[in-house]
Amino acid sequence: MNDHKQSDPAAETVLIVDFGGQLTQLIARRVRETGVFSEIVPFTRAAETIATLKPKAIILSGGPASVTEADSPRAPREVFEAGAPVLGICYGQQTMVRELGGVVEPSSEREYGDARITIVEPGAFFDGVGEAGHIERVWMSHGDRVTELPPGFRTLAISEHAPFAAIADETRRFYGVQFHPEAAHTPRGAAMLGNFLRLAGVHGQWSMRAFKETAIEAIREKVGKGRVILGLSGGVDSSVAAVLIHEAIGDQLTCIFVDHGLMREGEGDEVVSLFRGAYNIPLVHVRAEDTFLRALAGVSDPEAKRKIIGGLFIDVFDAEAAKLGGAEFLAQGTVYPDVIESVSPRGGPSATIKSHHNVGGLPERMNLKLLEPLRELFKDEVRALGRELGLPEAFIGRHPFPGPGLAIRILSDVTGEKLAILRRVDAVFIEEIRKAGLYDEIWQAFAVLLPVRTVGVMGDARTYDYVCGLRAVTSSDGMTAQAYPFSAEFLARASGRIINEVKGVNRVVYDVTSKPPGTIEWE
Ligand code: XMP
Repeated sequence: MNDHKQSDPAAETVLIVDFGGQLTQLIARRVRETGVFSEIVPFTRAAETIATLKPKAIILSGGPASVTEADSPRAPREVFEAGAPVLGICYGQQTMVRELGGVVEPSSEREYGDARITIVEPGAFFDGVGEAGHIERVWMSHGDRVTELPPGFRTLAISEHAPFAAIADETRRFYGVQFHPEAAHTPRGAAMLGNFLRLAGVHGQWSMRAFKETAIEAIREKVGKGRVILGLSGGVDSSVAAVLIHEAIGDQLTCIFVDHGLMREGEGDEVVSLFRGAYNIPLVHVRAEDTFLRALAGVSDPEAKRKIIGGLFIDVFDAEAAKLGGAEFLAQGTVYPDVIESVSPRGGPSATIKSHHNVGGLPERMNLKLLEPLRELFKDEVRALGRELGLPEAFIGRHPFPGPGLAIRILSDVTGEKLAILRRVDAVFIEEIRKAGLYDEIWQAFAVLLPVRTVGVMGDARTYDYVCGLRAVTSSDGMTAQAYPFSAEFLARASGRIINEVKGVNRVVYDVTSKPPGTIEWE
């Protein structure tokens, strides 16, 4: 999927050169939000990528290193010789200044967090942001600062500790900012990035429809007449990948759905009816609940559960694939954040792959070529592509669900009986959330079954049953989260229904912990 054809709208690419900045992915997102395709490469690969990709503009990211140190990462010469406009952000500005003949010095005044810049030269970069003398809020995070501009540059904005908060050589269309326009804390940063892209003459025609067409072509070209297998997990990523690939190569694709029996109520059947029924995609449904339950018997340690489930998943998938035979490609729903090469401060780019990716480890073992049509997309772009492909909204908008499923929501050893109880509790809770119209406001909601029994009274009888915990959080990326502030009425209604309808549970608690310090899951 890395073939870029210059006739595609996607070929109007902005290249983001990564120096290991915390916010590099955000730059890519902001650029894509303006309808322009963007790609991140480590600085070590910048020169070769410029040659093949011929980007319309180049953005140099921030980074943790100091250009004042010997052997710190540098923007290669090709960046400034490509004829494309360049925007250097923070470290990116410093390496640009350095390479073009200016001076960067360590500063005793670190600027970190909210800062104010004063515009001294209004111009196209600050179009719609402010005139000379205007003061603008920005997000700063830097130790070094530029103290002498390279020839041809002038100052566009200053800040208290950065005399060159924004600089430009408008003839060559080189821009540099000491602050982070990509950060949410620079409220008008998106406008500044938009101005830079306009200066670069990119038109913002990148759309999900265009992506879909290009991706389908690329899949056809890569696969030819080969056969493809894909491990369907029921999640959004693998499902969107399946439908996209099927649209490209039809029945050359076979999906293998390893049903570990640890999914939510009705979910397994839904996957089967959606893919076999609505899409007519060849699907092998492997009912492996017994195998997984046997392997999990007596295991209560969360990491041990994860290992067993991950390993068994691979074994079962592998065995089914072998039965099918003849596959040349393994398709995966890998998304961009899983594959962006991160840059270490000392320069060695290292690939970071999420460890709990469902079929991690499969490609090496199966000796298959990889097909990963979503590797350029962020999660919400995958959802947009799913919509473009006609996947039902209810399916696309589903809350995230962990690969090991309900096994890590039973806080003790996993048994069929506990699974049945938890599945019902979870279904009632989610049903109440949907009825209250809250489902889409919540990032993730679920129940956990505690290894505790408590005394209760139902009718005239004493009960001694399980406690279940309810968890619902809001979040934007799962990295931080807040407990959802349900009304007392809602909680009373949901817990009342659970206790009345689910045999084996006589007490419900609501988890009010934020992440951090808690995690979203209980295990
Ligand atoms: P935590 O509990 O770490 O969860 O705050 C953050 C997000 O990751 C999901 N999660 C997992 N997903 N395999 C997965 O595929 C796992 O082992 C796993 N553990 C947590 C969790 O559901 C939440 O969305």
